[in-house]
Amino acid sequence: MSLLKPRPGIMDIHVYQAGKSRATGNRPPIKLSSNESALGSSPKAIEAYHAAADTLFRYPPSDHLALREALGKKEGLDSGRIILGAGSDEILQLVCRAYAGPGDEVLYHEYGFVIYGLAAQGVGATPVKAPEVDLTANVDNLLAAVTPQTRIVFVANPSNPTGTYLSGSEIERLHAKLPEDVVLVIDAAYAEFCRREDYDIGTDLVDRADNVVVTRTFSKLYGLAGLRLGWGYGPAEIIDVLNRIRGPFNVGSPALAAGLGALEDDDFVERAVAHNEEWRPWLAREVAALGLDVTPSATNFILIRFPQEKDRDAKAADKYLTARGYILRALDEYGLPDCLRCTVGLEEHNKGVVAALRDFMAQAPA
Ligand SMILES: Cc1ncc(COP(=O)(O)O)c(C=O)c1O
Repeated sequence: MSLLKPRPGIMDIHVYQAGKSRATGNRPPIKLSSNESALGSSPKAIEAYHAAADTLFRYPPSDHLALREALGKKEGLDSGRIILGAGSDEILQLVCRAYAGPGDEVLYHEYGFVIYGLAAQGVGATPVKAPEVDLTANVDNLLAAVTPQTRIVFVANPSNPTGTYLSGSEIERLHAKLPEDVVLVIDAAYAEFCRREDYDIGTDLVDRADNVVVTRTFSKLYGLAGLRLGWGYGPAEIIDVLNRIRGPFNVGSPALAAGLGALEDDDFVERAVAHNEEWRPWLAREVAALGLDVTPSATNFILIRFPQEKDRDAKAADKYLTARGYILRALDEYGLPDCLRCTVGLEEHNKGVVAALRDFMAQAPA
């Protein structure tokens, strides 16, 4: 028996359960479980990725200057206040490592992205969840849960796995009432898919405040989840703190190159957004027409609630769909055991999963 002891609390952390990628049938599975891009990766990103093969023997630049400048130009942001990470996950983790520790609380909303709790536990802090209302983060409930121990508040906007969002004015209201020594992290991983008029990514708030960070990712719209590339935008002081604790070579050169390619790929972005705008509402309508409850979504996925009846519940549906080759995301770890999350796929995948769901509902005894 080893005498090694990890730090207190580490053995309480549940290992993150990624969306399944294997089905039980013979055909290759249709993976709709991880909110990945329906259209694959940006072709310009792939081209740049291949070109980066010639320089794999070199360390990547540690200041990430070229990609930060390109992002700054594209988004109209100060590139000096952008930090890049191995996925936006890394930025979320860095904020926890920098600003929270044992005895501190990290607050987020009830069904917010599971990584917030894991990142908090990873630094010995206590994760605290504020109740949502109608599967949506609630500003009053978040504010009511703030204590003197609160160091960080995470808001997924739009949120995963619910697909709901808070308006810009609600985020402003949350920020206005938060103590100034609390970091507000607005996780905008799905921002590009959110086409609602009252939505705001939050970068203007970053420019006006000392305690707000917005995180973004190349994993979703640009289809680069496998490369691990994300970024954060914050006040100079916070970005300086995060840069001190990140690994100097935390983002590899193929990811940096692909990111630059992706930013130039306006055609791909347009196609990806148009595809999502066409098929997310279609999926939502068709699934609702089967008598299942669908939460209105501002993202590239939908949340489906199943009846809590034997043979018709989410577990039975998951099993049935998996056998038909469709992998959706079970949400037990989010406290939503009666729901499955379904990512928008290609036309044939969307039609196929709806047909499989229709058969599931028809075969289950009413
Ligand atoms: C709300 C939210 N934030 C952040 C991430 C992390 O994305 P990545 O680390 O790939 O940038 C995800 C991925 O599923 C997400 O759903």
